[in-house]
Amino acid sequence: MMQEIVVISKSPEETISLGKRVGELLRPPDVVSLFGDFGSGKTCLVQGIVEGLGAGDGEYVRSPSYTLMNQYVGMFPIYHFDLFRINDLIGMEELDYEDYFYGNGVTIIEWAEKIQTVLPTNRLDIRLLIIDERVREITLLPGNLEHLFSLHSQLGMAV
Ligand SMILES: Nc1ncnc2c1ncn2[C@@H]1O[C@H](COP(=O)(O)OP(=O)(O)OP(=O)(O)O)[C@@H](O)[C@H]1O
Ligand SMILES: [Mg+2]
Repeated sequence: MMQEIVVISKSPEETISLGKRVGELLRPPDVVSLFGDFGSGKTCLVQGIVEGLGAGDGEYVRSPSYTLMNQYVGMFPIYHFDLFRINDLIGMEELDYEDYFYGNGVTIIEWAEKIQTVLPTNRLDIRLLIIDERVREITLLPGNLEHLFSLHSQLGMAV
């Protein structure tokens, strides 16, 4: 189990570049669960992660609005969930979420607290905290995902 990594981002661009470094290390069936208030930068971070996963400029990342999930194509399939609108797990079950979480792609989940009980044990948790208008404290918890442990040396100094 690896210790958490705390990064301070001072702009949306810094958050995107952090996401990119994370995305470069991800591989199926990794699940990234994002926790943080409105406007804390979850979707901004997803933009970087998707870029790091090799998706081209053609992939326009934004929160899914009428569906719970957007799919992008990078080195692997990428499943981007935004669960703000769900109130219980029933909507998720209809989606057959396990096919995504334990499938052939990388899953990224905004508002992951909504489905805390069914999140896979092996996952990367990322918590975003608004410090002020431009500053975010971003905490990464790679859990048991050993292929992400190099994030510690890459980002640890940025604390
Ligand atoms: N350091 C920063 N990192 C990320 N976003 C920032 C930062 N500073 C300012 N912002 C602004 O904060 C907003 C973050 O919006 P974003 O949609 O990424 O948040 P979110 O957490 O996905 O919100 P929601 O819960 O509504 O989906 C953007 O308007 C962005 O420009
Ligand atoms: Mg969002």
